[in-house]
This record gives sequence, structure tokens and C-alpha cells, in this order.
Amino acid sequence: MKLFKAKRRIVFICTCIFLAVAIAGCGKTEGGTKENTAVNNIDGAAGKADNTVTPKPEAETEAVEATPTPEPEAESKAYLEKYRQTGEYPSLAKIYKDKFYIGVALSNIDINNPDKAKLVASQFSSLTCENEMKPDFILDRAASIQNGDEECPAINMKNAEVALKFAKENGLKMRFHTLVWHAQTPRWFFTEGYSTSPDAPYVSRDVMLARMENYIRQVMEYMNTNYPGIIYAWDVVNEAIAGSERPDGIRVNDNLWYDVVGPDYVEKAFYFASKYVGEGQKLFYNDYGTYDKTKILHIRNLVDRLREQNIRIDGIGMQDHIGLTSPNILDYQYAINKYAEMGLEIQVTELDIGNEDNSEEGQMKLAARYKAIFTVLNNMVDKNLANITSVTFWGLTDDRSWLNKADQPQYPLLFDKELNPKPAFFAVAMDESIKMVHK
Ligand code: GLA
Repeated sequence: MKLFKAKRRIVFICTCIFLAVAIAGCGKTEGGTKENTAVNNIDGAAGKADNTVTPKPEAETEAVEATPTPEPEAESKAYLEKYRQTGEYPSLAKIYKDKFYIGVALSNIDINNPDKAKLVASQFSSLTCENEMKPDFILDRAASIQNGDEECPAINMKNAEVALKFAKENGLKMRFHTLVWHAQTPRWFFTEGYSTSPDAPYVSRDVMLARMENYIRQVMEYMNTNYPGIIYAWDVVNEAIAGSERPDGIRVNDNLWYDVVGPDYVEKAFYFASKYVGEGQKLFYNDYGTYDKTKILHIRNLVDRLREQNIRIDGIGMQDHIGLTSPNILDYQYAINKYAEMGLEIQVTELDIGNEDNSEEGQMKLAARYKAIFTVLNNMVDKNLANITSVTFWGLTDDRSWLNKADQPQYPLLFDKELNPKPAFFAVAMDESIKMVHK
């Protein structure tokens, strides 16, 4: 046992040295993260609140013990050569089939493009709707008013059908994103008579809880009746922790769930979801900045609160809209470890890496960063240090990334707009041609 501990300590020290070198290299490329400065690019979507949480360094970092060794797949170099000569390249879904789902977030416009659809079917094993499974897209106000049931809002899945059918036809599984969220959820969902009038009063807590339960029930029943076996993970609550207004970190500002139900809306959502969840499906809490030390504490406390009440939660969704250098790779690994040690399943749900530089050098830096992230993910799975079951990229091609601004295009993803794989793709494929530290 002692020997084992000593060995683990040596492994940890080696990891630190190795990663310090990697970070020093990346550190020359850019300043801070892009995360949480952007605003959703969908009409009606709320802007992301500033992540005002200040990271507090913790003394206790000993638990982080994975050893990222950037060992390339033996045959991946050959794949790259082959791509250069023939245009053929490997399938990420196949490379990772024994480790985790490899997913992509798409809008219907992408799925309806036959070339993109073909690429997605060959490269990915999991699909997330970029928007079409959010309350804004599912809640049906006209039908809710027509039904006249204050406690049971009507739903309409026509927007989600495109992805569901595509997934079914092509053998992909889906993450459901997202049941309960303060953003992209209409205000009328919370008002008496489903009114859109700006001064319409909100319903009582009890009525809102009934609406929450009925919404969750109907959505889950719809999926499990019409598309059994497609959804494997539910984002039950998205982004409920932000700011420092409350000691438990629950988001207070611009959060109608908080205003109408109260801070326990998160617990209630998990309670209702666990009543209707299908067999084999998992319930996730999903958030950005999940490597922030204060956020880690809040999320762990939230999980404890749920467990104390015997309410089920299966995993943490780490969104991972990250930067080229931030979070640093040790903090990233530390966070995974802190969730894993609670026995939680982990899914990377919205991975992209903010990057404005489309030069060859810029794209190699992006690739190096992806390689570092996937080195950690691979190692944690290979060494049984974390139960990472899915990794999803937030978009397929650079031109469709939510990070693009009118005056500043971004190049954060694995494929360019002509659907060619970028160096970042080969990095994720763990090709040895992509070095982790690129200067
Ligand atoms: C958040 C949400 C996603 C999406 C992205 C940006 O992370 O969880 O649904 O809106 O922002 O597009």
C-alpha cells in the first residue's frame, strides 16, 4: 500500500513537471480565456452572466495523479500521410469507440446539409442540438393557452425531430440539452395565463413546480416513447451556479427559476427528472467554468445536498468553452479529478477553443491545445481515474461557431468551412504529427 502511494506520488510529480513544460509553451500564445465574455448568438437568448467567481487556489492538490503521456496511436501517423495522399482520414467515433462517445452540436441547418450530414455520420457517435431542445424551442404557447391548464404547459417537438430522425437513421445517440435553464426559456412560461404582457404576474411557487414537473415529464415521455434508446444523457439543469450573491453560489440575477421557485429549483428539477428518466439514461448538471476552484466547491456541495435528500444525480457536464491557455491543464485535470472522486460520471459537453488566428501557426497552436486536453482525457480514462463517457464539440465547422462575431471571425473547431479536417482534428485523433507544445 505504502509502495503504491509512493509510486502515485512520483507519478504526480512527473505529471507536474511535464505539464509545467507544456503550459510554459502554450503560455506564449495568448492571454486569458474567451470563456464567458460572449453572448449567445440566438435571438431571444440571454447573454451569459459574467463569471464573477474568483478562483481560490486550494492547498490540497494531491489527488490529481493522472500522467499525461502524449503517446500517439501507432497507426495515426500513417492515417495523416494517407490523408495527404488520398484525402482519407480516420473516424474519431471509431478511434474513441471503446472510451467515450464523440459528439457534435448541430443546428437543423447543418443536419439538412447532405455533405455535413455524411461527415457527421462518419465522424461522430453522439449528437446534441445546438438549440432545438431548449425550452424556447419546445414550449408551445398557443397550445398551452388553448389547453387552458395553468399547471401543464404544452410542448411541441417539431424543431427537435430533425436531429432525432437523423440520429435514429445513422445510429447516433443523443445528449438532451437542456431541461431547466435560466436562458433561452420564455418569460411567459413563468406568468399567469402564459401571458407575454411585460407586467403579467408570475405564478406561485407551487404552480411553477407543477409546470416544471409536467414539462420534464412530457419531454422525457416523448423521447422515450417515440425515440427509445436515442437519448443517453439529460442536461437536467444548466448553469445554475454563478456569482457570489449567495453562499451556495446559486445564480440569483436574471434567473426566473430562482425568482419564482427559489434556490431549490435545482433539487426539484433533479427530483422530477429522476421520476421519469428512462432506463440506461443519465442525469447531468451542466455548467461552464467547471474548473474554477470556487465553482468546483459549489458543484460538489450541490451534489452533496442532492444526495442527502436521496435525489439522483449521475454526472457533471463540463461545457469547456475554453481558451488557448486558460484554464491551465493542471487546473483542468484537477477539476475532473474532484468530480470523479465523488463517483460522478463526467461528460465534456460543449468543447471549443477560442482562437482568432487562422494562420498555419495559429492552427498548430490550436491543435497543440486540443492535444493537451485529449491527452488528459485519454489518460484519465486509460488509468481508470475518471469515468468520462462523452466528449462533444460545440459545432462542426469554424464558420458556424457561436464564437464568431461580426467583426471577428473565430477558428476554434476541427473542420474548416469546406469540411476539411484541420490540424486540430489530427490532434484529437492523437496523431503524432501534432506536438503538444508548439512554438
Ligand atoms: C452555453 C449553453 C449552450 C450554448 C452555448 C453557446 O454554454 O449551455 O446551450 O448556448 O452557451 O452557444
